[in-house]
Amino acid sequence: MRQLVGRVVATERKPNTTHEFHFWTGREAPIGIGSIVKVVAEAQTVYGVVVEGFSYTDLLSPLHDYIGADADPGAEARAPSTRPEIRLYSAAVLRREPEEPVQPVPMGAVYLADDLDVVVGLRMDAYVGGERDTGVPLGLYTSGGLEAPVFLDADFLLGPEAAHLNITGVSGLATKTSLVEFLLASIFEHLPGFKGSVAAVCFNVKGPDLLFLDQPGDLDEADLRMYRQLGIPAEPFKNIRYYAPYKADGWNLNTLRTNPDLMQNVEPLRWGLKEVMQFSEVLLTRDDLDAKADALVDFIRDRVLDQPFGPGSGQPLMRNHFVRTFRDLEDWFDDVLACCEQSGEDRWMTHHTATIRKVRNRLNGIVSRAHGLVVNDDAVSDLPWGSFEDRAVYVIDVANVEPEAQDLVFARVVSKLREGLEAGSIGVRHVVVFADELNKYAPSDGPDTYVRKMLLDISERGRYLGLVLFGAQQFRSQVHRRVVGNSGSAVYGRMDMDELATPGYSVLSPATKTKLASLPKGDLMVRHPHFTQPIFIRFPKPAVMRGRDGIERFPPRQEMPFEDAVAHGLRRVDQRVRVNEVKDLIAGRERSEVLQAFHHTQRSRPGDALAFFRSRLKKKVASEVVEAPRPVSVPEDPYAGD
Ligand SMILES: Nc1ncnc2c1ncn2[C@@H]1O[C@H](COP(=O)(O)OP(=O)(O)OP(=O)(O)O)[C@@H](O)[C@H]1O
Ligand SMILES: [Mg+2]
Repeated sequence: MRQLVGRVVATERKPNTTHEFHFWTGREAPIGIGSIVKVVAEAQTVYGVVVEGFSYTDLLSPLHDYIGADADPGAEARAPSTRPEIRLYSAAVLRREPEEPVQPVPMGAVYLADDLDVVVGLRMDAYVGGERDTGVPLGLYTSGGLEAPVFLDADFLLGPEAAHLNITGVSGLATKTSLVEFLLASIFEHLPGFKGSVAAVCFNVKGPDLLFLDQPGDLDEADLRMYRQLGIPAEPFKNIRYYAPYKADGWNLNTLRTNPDLMQNVEPLRWGLKEVMQFSEVLLTRDDLDAKADALVDFIRDRVLDQPFGPGSGQPLMRNHFVRTFRDLEDWFDDVLACCEQSGEDRWMTHHTATIRKVRNRLNGIVSRAHGLVVNDDAVSDLPWGSFEDRAVYVIDVANVEPEAQDLVFARVVSKLREGLEAGSIGVRHVVVFADELNKYAPSDGPDTYVRKMLLDISERGRYLGLVLFGAQQFRSQVHRRVVGNSGSAVYGRMDMDELATPGYSVLSPATKTKLASLPKGDLMVRHPHFTQPIFIRFPKPAVMRGRDGIERFPPRQEMPFEDAVAHGLRRVDQRVRVNEVKDLIAGRERSEVLQAFHHTQRSRPGDALAFFRSRLKKKVASEVVEAPRPVSVPEDPYAGD
């Protein structure tokens, strides 16, 4: 039975409109800001959500009460009767039945919504429970003792109708990162088969935030109950891979997930010339590169990279080249400049030597600035383009990486995803990209960087491709308007009052703003295309280990000296490898040679890692055993005195 809680009222001073109505309730009615109610009138049923509350008595002025109490604050306790007090609420219309004609809300009885009313009021009946069920649970609507699941529509979350989700709120209390972790688990469980496969690519940009998604979290009974109600298994992610570049040394991974117990799914991110040249704009546009330099970069990309170049193929150089790595390119530049010097001309082909020197410096600069990620050999290691798996999470740890290298990672990964989804060659139908701290990558002001352009592009066109952006930030007002504006769903956790005073929130009532500014952890406000008004929900803690718990439970390994790093790295590929054997094998060799062999072994993952590694090292010339010179027998000195 629905609970009758009040009646609609309208006065000349406070009339009802087509989008808002008022009702009074008894003092005890379990109604609050965000409660969903149903008005039943003769010809219409109207669903609404409470957005403002008032209370007053029959007093005209505070002065009357003051005089009545003889200025004694304790007088009320002695009064023979208490003053009648009214609770008056304003509600915003969610839905009306029938939909037409759109008329002001009629007078009628007001009921507290039950489970079915929540479904109908939020228009979830269009996509939940029917033949084509695209509902993805986001949390529970918990008002007036109700615990009704609230679903997002996958067609509006992952495309094609609308897409993307943005979450905002203050640090530590808004549970932004947690919601995204929970929602990914919900999508993986509930995305229906006919929508196709889905994978997630998450950028870890803050400390150990996303580094333990495969470890169980600390859930209490209330959390577990919510998981059961929402039909989501309370388990960590099963299929997950981690990627991190090396530190500047080139052999210690630049991540906090280095505990030996967790290394089985951590892989290096290591890019060479070919990977970088495609996105050189990211690193080059920051400087004042002109059209001439651009032309030379294009020339190298189209005509030099990965093909024979030199006298053998008719080009004016002294030696034949086949440029695959930054080292080869350096060699090629040397040759080009030597040719210019020899001929005494200040041009080579159509390029001026000044431009050639400039581009060479800039390209070399990339290797030194993004050291550890960008390397000058060809032992590259990358995401599994083409074989992304359904319901898998790929976490790229860039938390400790230099900003420029971060931009490169971001730009290349997202562009490759876009290309792959466009061509249908990624391996899955949808990819959710999670970018935390979105205000850093797509700020509302500041220079128009490549990364920001790309995020704009995803938010505007990604939904047709299945490329979906889940963004989080503390202050929504600091993110580019078109990025947040194109986000079909918006979620708000505990908010800052200053932020709520910015123009983006002017549509919210003062009571809703006050509620937002004091939301407890786990409570959120959601906007979704099907809901005509923002709705408050609660979600459980994610079923994965929190970053800082993970660091305690799985402390990162100390940085290792070169020999140990190589030996342990090989052991990761093949458990049979013995550390001392590797150390003996690499003693006295050039580091670059060892590293290249090491990275090739890591990339190839051979059955016998040590044998493979050994085969990649240069043969040592067996040193001849030179016998110590025999002492020459000296005849006794006949002239020696005695
Ligand atoms: N559903 C929940 N209910 C109660 N507590 C939660 C819930 N989800 C997360 N928490 C707790 O809230 C805290 C903050 O969560 P989280 O790290 O997700 O916040 P955040 O908004 O991403 O913060 P920051 O801006 O610092 O990154 C964590 O300690 C987490 O355990
Ligand atoms: Mg966070």
